[in-house]
Amino acid sequence: MATKHRSNSSFLFLLLLLHFILGKSQLQVNYYSKSCPKAEEIIKQQVTELYNEHGNTAISWVRNLFHDCLVKACDASLLLETVHGVVSEQTSERSFGMRNFKYVNTIKAAVEKECPLTVSCADIVALSARDGIAMLGGPNIEMKSGRRDSKESYVKVVEDFIPNHNDSISLVLSRFQAIGVDVEATVALLGAHSVGRVHCMNIVHRLYPTVDTTLDPTHAAYLKRRCPTPNPDPKAVQYVRNDLKTPMIIDNNYYKNILQHKGLLTVDEELANDPITAPYVQKMADDNTYFRQQFSRAVLLLSENNPLTADDQGEIRKDCRYVNAN
Ligand code: HEM
Ligand SMILES: *[C@@H]1O[C@H](CO)[C@@H](O)[C@H](O)[C@H]1NC(C)=O
Repeated sequence: MATKHRSNSSFLFLLLLLHFILGKSQLQVNYYSKSCPKAEEIIKQQVTELYNEHGNTAISWVRNLFHDCLVKACDASLLLETVHGVVSEQTSERSFGMRNFKYVNTIKAAVEKECPLTVSCADIVALSARDGIAMLGGPNIEMKSGRRDSKESYVKVVEDFIPNHNDSISLVLSRFQAIGVDVEATVALLGAHSVGRVHCMNIVHRLYPTVDTTLDPTHAAYLKRRCPTPNPDPKAVQYVRNDLKTPMIIDNNYYKNILQHKGLLTVDEELANDPITAPYVQKMADDNTYFRQQFSRAVLLLSENNPLTADDQGEIRKDCRYVNAN
């Protein structure tokens, strides 16, 4: 008994030591329960209202989570705009097609009105993604909060983290692996491509001068009608929806599509063919419940990448677009 007691207390001591060495507080479920009890309710209400006005805002919140969290940390660095001394991550080629950033300000303003300088933009990115996923018929995910905001943009290294549309699956897997997202979870995250759109810019290389032989011919003909020229104007609003059957629902239709060679991006097509990912693609196509479980787990892993949590790390931004003045 005495020995057990001693080993328990040395275990606690070790934990305490680790806490100080790592210098980290933890993310927590309902982190704002004392400092801003209505925070999560307000965010959810704003996400719902925005969804009712512009359904595609919910889609943007899902993509934001990927582009914010995979680049160093979930720290709202993505939201910083270009001003003196700062170049926005939104100007990276990898951010092509991202939209609805202005409505993040709507959410932040509603939260600021209730609790000034309390709720981080990084948590707004994370929680709006969670609520957006639920609006899009995806799973309800219990997500932690307590992330703080970066004081800088990482525009120079965005391409070291976010894969390109035509990168290999092994590169994609290694990028996710580096932040603790395993193969199964990576396959599940790509299921986000069951909503939203792809601009012709990112498709035409599979259509012209010759059609990519891996594409389903009927689908290729459809894509050529949607994208009739090999050199679309990057500013033109010419695009194809990811999932023609359920374009606004996060479901396993993505996996059915890519198994039928109707994926839009090269990575989508490759995900179905690569021997490492193919078994999971098949399993997710066969079983929507399994997909939803894996998608929830994967979103949590992504959302917990390397958060700033200590008081001396980052800040709580007043305006998500700018580092605080001081
Ligand atoms: C290998 C990884 C990935 C690559 C290369 C990739 C690439 C792309 C590209 C090129 C687009 C189309 C942009 C356009 O033409 O407008 C897109 C759209 C999108 N991606 Fe990904 N993506 C990846 C992973 C993810 C992940 C992990 C998520 C979220 C969990 C995600 C969410 C989305 C969403 C929601 C859209 C539609 C955006 C809209 O309609 O506004 N993607 N992605
Ligand atoms: C991938 O696409 C980009 C344009 O987005 C192009 O510059 C690059 O050459 C392509 N890479 C491969 C391996 O095809």
